[in-house]
Amino acid sequence: MKIAVLGATGTAGRLVVRAARAADHDVVEASRASGVDLHTGAGLSDAIAGCDAVIDASNPFPTDPAGDVVSAFADASRRVADACEQTGVRALVHLSICNIDAAAFDEFDYYVAKRAQEKVVTASSVPHAIVRSAQWMEFALNPAAVEQSHDRVLVQDWFIQPIAVATVADVLVETCTDRRHRDIAGPEQIRLPDLTGRYLRAIDDHRKVEGVAAPFPEVSEGVLLASPNTEILGPGPTEWLAGLEHG
Ligand SMILES: NC(=O)c1ccc[n+]([C@@H]2O[C@H](COP(=O)([O-])OP(=O)(O)OC[C@H]3O[C@@H](n4cnc5c(N)ncnc54)[C@H](OP(=O)(O)O)[C@@H]3O)[C@@H](O)[C@H]2O)c1
Repeated sequence: MKIAVLGATGTAGRLVVRAARAADHDVVEASRASGVDLHTGAGLSDAIAGCDAVIDASNPFPTDPAGDVVSAFADASRRVADACEQTGVRALVHLSICNIDAAAFDEFDYYVAKRAQEKVVTASSVPHAIVRSAQWMEFALNPAAVEQSHDRVLVQDWFIQPIAVATVADVLVETCTDRRHRDIAGPEQIRLPDLTGRYLRAIDDHRKVEGVAAPFPEVSEGVLLASPNTEILGPGPTEWLAGLEHG
């Protein structure tokens, strides 16, 4: 199968490219670095022409930091869906986030933007599947919840059930073939300050980690944890961190 990976240079995208190649697929890597801009559509149709499947692992924040995140994300997804329709792509696999429908996130622009993307993909006539992932182990240093300085790291008290991004990448590649919607999370619940502290120690970084309040109390109270229909996929934090320590 020939698969285009949108966001191929990103945290998820890099591992999706690796997973797709490991599964013997031909891969087209697409991002602005390779001349594909989802804000304008430049290069998009050319990049995905002839592909059987497209995995959208992009994160198309507006170029202007004051820009409207919701319309930037929705418009990018619309361009992707339109280009898939025009070029005859047979599977569009869209990467999203678990539990974004919760009312707690109604005022959280980023999750509202992810909801808007899902709506665009669902409404399109391209055969598609949405993979909703829990936060990643790699979220341990995500600037959305973690603020770093030279001697300390402030971490919002998110209560999460993290999954390794390598696992997410494998699921995205499988989904090109079976086109099943999936909700996926890791096997253990953990508080983000704990995960960040353990991650930093594993990479021999001894800055002080301090927990701070999350922007919405629900995030600390479990709104992001796996729901009953979520698939649980390892590794858990201990095994994942051991993998880092052993290189
Ligand atoms: N972090 C988590 O825990 C988590 C959990 C579940 C789902 N997700 C979702 O996973 C997706 C990927 O996240 P990530 O952290 O891997 O993203 P990332 O590291 O920020 O990478 C974003 C990718 O998108 C590309 N990109 C950004 N703007 C673009 C544009 N205008 N046109 C074309 N390409 C563009 C970037 O490449 P260029 O800069 O070269 O364009 C890069 O390859 C996001 O949709 C996120 O919501 C994240």
